[in-house]
Amino acid sequence: MNRKVVLASHPEGAVAPEHFRIVEEAAPTPGEGEVLVRNEWLSLDPYMRGRMSTAKSYVKGVDVGEVMVGQTVGEVVESKDASLKAGDKVLTSLGWQSMGVAKASELNKVDASRVPASYYLGILGMPGLTAWFGLHEIGQPKQGDTLVVSAASGAVGSVVGQLGKIAGCRVVGIAGGKAKCDYVLNELGFDAVVDYKAGKFEEDLRTAVPKGVDIYFDNVGGPILDAMLGRMRLFSRIIVCGLISEYDAKEPYGYKKLRSILVNRIKMQGMIVFDWKDRYGEGIKGLAGHLAAGRLKYRESVIEGLENAPRGLMGLLKGENFGKQLVKL
Ligand SMILES: NC(=O)c1ccc[n+]([C@@H]2O[C@H](COP(=O)([O-])OP(=O)(O)OC[C@H]3O[C@@H](n4cnc5c(N)ncnc54)[C@H](OP(=O)(O)O)[C@@H]3O)[C@@H](O)[C@H]2O)c1
Repeated sequence: MNRKVVLASHPEGAVAPEHFRIVEEAAPTPGEGEVLVRNEWLSLDPYMRGRMSTAKSYVKGVDVGEVMVGQTVGEVVESKDASLKAGDKVLTSLGWQSMGVAKASELNKVDASRVPASYYLGILGMPGLTAWFGLHEIGQPKQGDTLVVSAASGAVGSVVGQLGKIAGCRVVGIAGGKAKCDYVLNELGFDAVVDYKAGKFEEDLRTAVPKGVDIYFDNVGGPILDAMLGRMRLFSRIIVCGLISEYDAKEPYGYKKLRSILVNRIKMQGMIVFDWKDRYGEGIKGLAGHLAAGRLKYRESVIEGLENAPRGLMGLLKGENFGKQLVKL
C-alpha cells in the first residue's frame, strides 16, 4: 500500500492539522521508462506554505485532494528503464507519500557513499544551492564586507553565513533564542549574533553592526527586514530570499524604511533558486568541496513518520526546527 498526505483545504492564516488528510491506496506500478521509488526522506520547506495557498505565486499551488508537493530521497525498488536499477538512491519530486512512480529521466541519482543521502535535500540540495547562488551571484561578497543573514541557524541561513566567512566577510547572524544563537556563534563560527526574541532587537543590531551592513541576506521579511533597511550602507545589497514571518499572516507587513533604498542606493533583488538550475552542478561541486574540507558544518532536525509531516511543517513555520527539517519515512 502507498500512504500519502493530501491537501484537505486551503488555510487562511496559520496552518493546522485539519488542512491535511492521509489517504491509503494500492501501490502504483511503473510503466516503460519509469521506476517505482520507496521514499526514505521527505524534505519540509517553508515554500510549502505558499503552495497550500490560492494566492498567485511563481509556481502553481496544490489543489484540494492533491498530494502535498515536496522533494524526497528514496530507493528504486523496481525499474523499467536501463538508466536506473533496484537499490539506486534517487532525488525525486514525489511529494508527501511513502512511494511513487516517476519517469527515470526526471530523477537524479545521488551518491550516498560519502555523505548521508539526506544531505541532497539540504546542504547539497535546494537550500544549499539557494545559499550558494543567492550569496555569490546577488550578494557579490568581497573581503572585509559586513554580511548579515536572518534565520541564521536554518538550512539556508547557516550555509550563507559560513560561505560568507569563506569569502572573507564579517558575518552576523540573526536567530531566535539562546540555543540557536549559541550554535551560530560557537559552532558555525559567525563573528556575532543577534537574538531577535531577546526584546531589544534594534539596539542589539546597532551594537552588532556599528558601521552598517554591505550585504543582507533576508530569509524572513517583516520587522527584521524593516530594521535591516535602516542599517544598510551606501551601495549595499539585499537578497530577498524568503519572507517566512509573513507566510501565515492574513495581511502583508507594512514596511516603513523603504526610503533607505533610495538614499543609500541599495540594490535589492528577489531570488528563486531554480533560476540557476542550469548551474546546479557547479553549486553542488562547490558546496561538496567545502563540506569535504571541513569548512561547512550542517545540522538536521528529524521527525519520524509520514503522519507527522503536517506537524513538522507547522513547527518549521514557527521556528521549532533547529537545522534542516526532514521527515524520516
Ligand atoms: N527563494 C528561494 O529560492 C528559496 C529557497 C529556499 C528557501 N527559501 C526561503 O528561505 C527562508 C529559510 O528557509 P529554510 O528552508 O532555510 O528554513 P529554516 O531557516 O531552516 O527554518 C525556518 C526558520 O525561520 C525562522 N522564522 C520562523 N518564523 C519567523 C519569524 N516570524 N521571524 C523571524 N524568523 C522566523 C525560524 O528560525 P528562528 O527560530 O531563528 O526564528 C525557523 O527555524 C524561508 O523564508 C524560505 O521560504 C527561499
